[in-house]
Amino acid sequence: MQKKLHIKTYGCQMNVYDSARMADSLAPLGYGATPQLDDADMVVINTCHIREKAAEKVFSELGRLRKIKNARMEEHGRDMVIVVAGCVAQAEGEEIARRAPWVDVIVGPQAYQNLPALIGKIDPSSRQAVVDTEFPVADKFDLLPTNESPRGAAAFLSVQEGCDKFCSFCVVPYTRGAEFSRPADSIIAEARRLIKGGAVELTLLGQNVNAWHGEGLDGRVWDFGRLLFALAELSGLKRLRYTTSHPLDMHEALYQAHAEIPQLMPYLHLPVQSGSDRILKAMNRRHSRDDYLRIIDRLRDVRPDLALSGDFIVGFPNESDGDFADTLNLIARVDYASAYSFKYSPRPGTPAANHDGQIDEAVKSARLTSLQQLISAQQQKFNHSKLGAVMDVLVERPASKAGQKAGRSPWMQAVHFHAASGEIGDIIPLKIVGAHQNSLAGCVAS
Ligand code: 5AD
Ligand code: SF4
Repeated sequence: MQKKLHIKTYGCQMNVYDSARMADSLAPLGYGATPQLDDADMVVINTCHIREKAAEKVFSELGRLRKIKNARMEEHGRDMVIVVAGCVAQAEGEEIARRAPWVDVIVGPQAYQNLPALIGKIDPSSRQAVVDTEFPVADKFDLLPTNESPRGAAAFLSVQEGCDKFCSFCVVPYTRGAEFSRPADSIIAEARRLIKGGAVELTLLGQNVNAWHGEGLDGRVWDFGRLLFALAELSGLKRLRYTTSHPLDMHEALYQAHAEIPQLMPYLHLPVQSGSDRILKAMNRRHSRDDYLRIIDRLRDVRPDLALSGDFIVGFPNESDGDFADTLNLIARVDYASAYSFKYSPRPGTPAANHDGQIDEAVKSARLTSLQQLISAQQQKFNHSKLGAVMDVLVERPASKAGQKAGRSPWMQAVHFHAASGEIGDIIPLKIVGAHQNSLAGCVAS
């Protein structure tokens, strides 16, 4: 009988990708996915540690799982294996093992290739989790089984992991480890498999994806721009995207890629975090506000229809009203199509957590609200600017509303349209007839 696997994923797209690869690696052990947690023989929670109270949320989730696990055992005599994966597992592995002894396996993001072996080591008579939070030197991507299962019309492909930047607020360099770039041949092989499985759009993933510098097909070190040019040659690949990028890693070949590769979509997520030079310095970003604005200008020179998105942190230690005003006027100057914004949250082990001058919660909340109002207005304006336009939409899935399908514009906008209008994986021209805060409505262009 097939065993049932339920994976609950928190956090970034990297985790979404990792969850899919973990599911692949568990298939040979007889596990197939189920959306039903109560029904599962194994539950994996793939955790995120980037912001507030991450560990506490994991412990309360584990409390719930313990009850389900015990009830199953009592009622049916069947165990439910509990696996904690992701960045909280990496950062708090020992604490989880101590406080939640009903957890069977704790596995960090660099050790997923060992998951089947770790499952094999579970000893039901011991109340001791099997833990693997090592950072191996080998390429985990090569050691994970290849993904034969279809991933849909738009798929993720991890090309780079880890971060050497050490922004003073961020846990990623500690949980995901040092920067690592997969070699081009293994990326291209995976891209081919995804395309064969039905993907027409690939989003290349990495914590600092444009810092990718891996072994090229010619044995030399390539930069990220060069990798994009190589991927653009794959037949059947109609759209390319990448995320998340860092201003310090913009380079010539990447500007050229935006200018010359038609498949590279005109949308870029380029976080800046703050518009104040003083705060950027304290954040250890190692670029100024002007550096960032120059990059944006240059990108818009080569690709005038480029839409931008970013990440912002408000209430970083010592952020004054003037610093915050600089962030608002940077946003006004860039004019974003969308953005993510967060209240600064001190993360254990990061330098900024110990800075003097931590900002009051009420001030953080007020700043977040005014920043989000500005971004919302920009997003509305951007969406409205597409009214009446005809654009290519990738048909991705049935929409939650009956009789409709959902897809994406070149600028990452969700577009809803009549279900008869195209098959999953088609790219169809649609006329935009409605513009909302978070989506567009389209109909077949006549
Ligand atoms: N507090 C608030 N936001 C954070 N981010 C990362 N670390 C923190 C933190 N300690 C945000 C940054 C980053 C995004 C993924 O999460 O904006 O770009
Ligand atoms: Fe974190 Fe900065 Fe690295 Fe991004 S660049 S993952 S924010 S340390």
